[in-house]
Amino acid sequence: MAERTFVMAKPDGVGRRLVGEMVRRFESRGLKLVGLKMQVMPKDLAKAHYAEHAEKPFFGELVSFITSGPTVQMVWEGLNAVEAVRKMNGATNCLKAEIGTIRGDFGLSVQNNLVHASDSVETAQREIALYFKQEELWDYAMPDGHWL
Ligand code: RTP
Ligand code: MG
Repeated sequence: MAERTFVMAKPDGVGRRLVGEMVRRFESRGLKLVGLKMQVMPKDLAKAHYAEHAEKPFFGELVSFITSGPTVQMVWEGLNAVEAVRKMNGATNCLKAEIGTIRGDFGLSVQNNLVHASDSVETAQREIALYFKQEELWDYAMPDGHWL
């Protein structure tokens, strides 16, 4: 099933110049970029994005971190895109993330783990709507689309 998933380079991912590396990996895997923007997240948006963690002890720190610098928002489309990208990002704790994943190859921290991705198709729909208007998402054919 073709799906769309929401992916974000966090402030440390942007600050460590890893946006191109992330995009290269998702493109090479066969996913299609259908939305892209950059912003310093307002506090309210950060709280809405991570609402599921509002009661957790690390919530305040998480909101401070995610609003601490520019972030890059992306929507990627492809077969089973949600699961594919979660696997490519790796486990939340970079130390536990497999080598070969973005977090496992480039991170050491739990909080500063470089990249976010939606954890289900329903979450993806909610998160895409938080960041993108319908007219900011692009529907187009790829010349190699029939291989994927
Ligand atoms: P994300 O939502 O950012 O893609 O990460 P995730 O699903 O792998 O992890 P999640 O449990 O949703 O946690 C959201 C983000 O909160 C920070 N975190 N800090 N200090 C801590 O114990 C702790 N636990 C989580 C991380 O930045 C994590 O990605
Ligand atoms: Mg999460």
